[in-house]
Amino acid sequence: MGVDELRALQLERLQWTLRHAYANVPHYTRAFDAHGVHPDDCRELADIAKFPTTSKADLRDNYPFGMFAVPQADVRRVHASSGTTGKPTVVGYTEGDIDRWAGLIARSLRAAGARPGHKIHNAYGYGLFTGGLGAHYGIEKLGATAIPVSGGMTPRQVQLIGDFRPEVILVTPSYMLTVIDEFERQGVDPASSSLQVGVFGAEPWTEQMRSEIEERMDMHAVDIYGLSEVMGPGVSQECVETKDGLHIWEDHFLPEVVDPLDGGRGTPLPDGQEGELLFTSLTKEALPIIRYRTRDLTTLLPGTARPSMRRMAKITGRSDDMIILRGVNVFPTQIEEIVLRTPGLAPHFQLELTTRGRMDALAVRVEARADTPAGRRDSAAAELVNAVKETVGVSVSCEVVDPDTLERSVGKLQRLKDRRTK
Ligand code: DLL
Repeated sequence: MGVDELRALQLERLQWTLRHAYANVPHYTRAFDAHGVHPDDCRELADIAKFPTTSKADLRDNYPFGMFAVPQADVRRVHASSGTTGKPTVVGYTEGDIDRWAGLIARSLRAAGARPGHKIHNAYGYGLFTGGLGAHYGIEKLGATAIPVSGGMTPRQVQLIGDFRPEVILVTPSYMLTVIDEFERQGVDPASSSLQVGVFGAEPWTEQMRSEIEERMDMHAVDIYGLSEVMGPGVSQECVETKDGLHIWEDHFLPEVVDPLDGGRGTPLPDGQEGELLFTSLTKEALPIIRYRTRDLTTLLPGTARPSMRRMAKITGRSDDMIILRGVNVFPTQIEEIVLRTPGLAPHFQLELTTRGRMDALAVRVEARADTPAGRRDSAAAELVNAVKETVGVSVSCEVVDPDTLERSVGKLQRLKDRRTK
């Protein structure tokens, strides 16, 4: 589809979505009325900026099913995301929604390098999390073979990869590292596995992590993005040909990047400028979502491997994961980059925020690699501290600990422990 045709389709679908949400979800009726806008005010795509944004709090306030736009009998499935505090947010899908979702996962997997006939090891968690089941139906839709392993029981993951010989694995990048370590623990070279492509998402990861995984597994590592409120995995996908950020499936989602610091008004920024990513769904029936504030920070870029669809740059982090240390913004991904380029340090680290006197202090605890000589640890720690000071601009402390001593991820990894005295 050419760009003009795509924009026309987006406008038609956007107008339908606004009318559907306004007519069927009391929250949107109230929010649009309070904002003085009506679905008829949307005559071109840029008019989206006239509409109010939606946040996680709106979904929580309407817990569990208040944001649904169809009768309950038409809801074929629900998922929920636990979040870090309070009630989960609940999302729902009609039969049509599930079918379109499967189609978008199939499209994503194809762009990642998977093909019909491949065996796909799915280690995203099955259950209320959208990762496992969401990916599962897409694998089948692609015409591939789903191996629904879910997360956990790491030795068995390695055994099944060895026995079933899948070409593709779907897993969080942090859990992939745990699985790679298990290969090595069992004395199996991970690079000798049958895997050719890994499709990694659900948490931020860096180019340095891509190199680490690609080298140790001898396979392609590509990025998949999504969030429950907007659908689940498969909102955008990195193409294996270019590995240059994620193509957003714009025929189903309208992206915007807005000023993250304007108090939620959603002031659009031009493409190419970093800000908070917002999504409006274009085809969702059960849970139409208008200008959803993802809290994820990225930049919109022109399409490459799929020219008419825009890309989003790899996510730098979530605005809520950002640590403000003595006035400087620090993202865990910045520390990840430095850990991975410091010789002797393994890609397993934790961040701990504490209170020292009246100041916040950030400590990096990172494992040494198995073959790092004991005498190298202090100099590696010093190099990391210097690199953080030089590139991020803050002073941190660093402790290099024994291999295999930090907590491992089986799904989404929580890197930051906040132990500040409030
Ligand atoms: O994590 C959906 C998903 C499952 C995506 C499997 C990819 C693979 P939620 O649990 O609702 O949904 O969490 C959504 O996770 O707002 C981002 O902060 C983060 N996230 C998801 N994918 C990526 C990614 C799933 N590729 C939240 N890079 C989002 C960085 C990601 N962050």
